[in-house]
Amino acid sequence: MAQTSGQTTFQTKGNSGAEKYANFNWDELGFDLVPTDYMYVMKCCEEENFSHGNLVPYGNIEMSPSAGILNYGQGLFEGLKAYRKEDGCDVLLFRPEQNAQRMKRGAERLCMPSPSVEQFVEAVKQTVLANKHWVPPPGKGSLYIRPLLFGSGPHLGVGPAPEYTFLIYVVPVGNYHKGLLNLVVEDKFHRATPGGTGGIKAVTNYSPVYKVVTQAKAKGFSDVLFLDALTGKNIEEVSACNIFIVKGNVISTPATHGTILPGITRKSIIEIALSFGYQVEERVIPVEDLLEADELFCTGTAVVVTPVTSVTCHNKRVEYKIGVEMVSQKIHVMLTGIQTGRIEDKMGWTVEV
Ligand code: COI
Repeated sequence: MAQTSGQTTFQTKGNSGAEKYANFNWDELGFDLVPTDYMYVMKCCEEENFSHGNLVPYGNIEMSPSAGILNYGQGLFEGLKAYRKEDGCDVLLFRPEQNAQRMKRGAERLCMPSPSVEQFVEAVKQTVLANKHWVPPPGKGSLYIRPLLFGSGPHLGVGPAPEYTFLIYVVPVGNYHKGLLNLVVEDKFHRATPGGTGGIKAVTNYSPVYKVVTQAKAKGFSDVLFLDALTGKNIEEVSACNIFIVKGNVISTPATHGTILPGITRKSIIEIALSFGYQVEERVIPVEDLLEADELFCTGTAVVVTPVTSVTCHNKRVEYKIGVEMVSQKIHVMLTGIQTGRIEDKMGWTVEV
């Protein structure tokens, strides 16, 4: 069936054998930009609501040099994934309404209008459908969906922009981290401060970590674990993902009080762990708890559930066992099983495109 949106015509599901896959090497997917076919764009003015968006060919966008996002960083992003089910035809989204709600909370904090939850989910579905042949085959990866909301209108003084753009593009991806995940604890720079924007997905939360992450990588670490800015004693978040520690039957993760991103994978993992009978604690986690932990793992849309092999803190290195019997492995199997339709979704988390 062909569906038309604006000037764009694309194929929807249901044409079984005729389903087209791009001529693409799915075995080499990492987390790198691959230009796809269409993106979704919707604009509105300050003090208005978003009302109508369109699919357009993926490509550059034009903005004034005085656009709010370029000058004052007024912008948010989201990340979610679409998976191809094992039948190779149907495509599932994972909890897209949660991303929509998080974007609304962030927009409120940054004085921006935001699409309604329904507009957001519908736009995600349209973008995935238009790029359906970029959803990797089962077992090869997923389609990473990147919604953006930013001040696109021109202005000079510090204040909300006169126009906003909601845009979605998609990229086929594989694993975020190549190889094992060995973290280093950062004790000088911080990712977020109380009262700041650490608890929303502001675009400006990410580039401030580049310097320390680049330095850490040069020393052979894969990523950086940040401590709280107030006391410098408690673990908070890795540069682009949440963290969990396991000790016996107890799984703990730093509580979200505005400095930690309330990850949708984090939230889902808490629910899965509880359903498995683990005790889950969202609490303040002193850095010393890392020494006692049986296991550590990172979670996020991009990293999914990735076990940590070691953490280095003040030049002291703690190693963690890695293996199929790990708690994180059990959780990973359940989470990705639900996401890909291999395991029945009793939680009602998946949405068919
Ligand atoms: C995600 O997991 O979607 C993220 O936000 C990580 C991204 C910064 C790569």
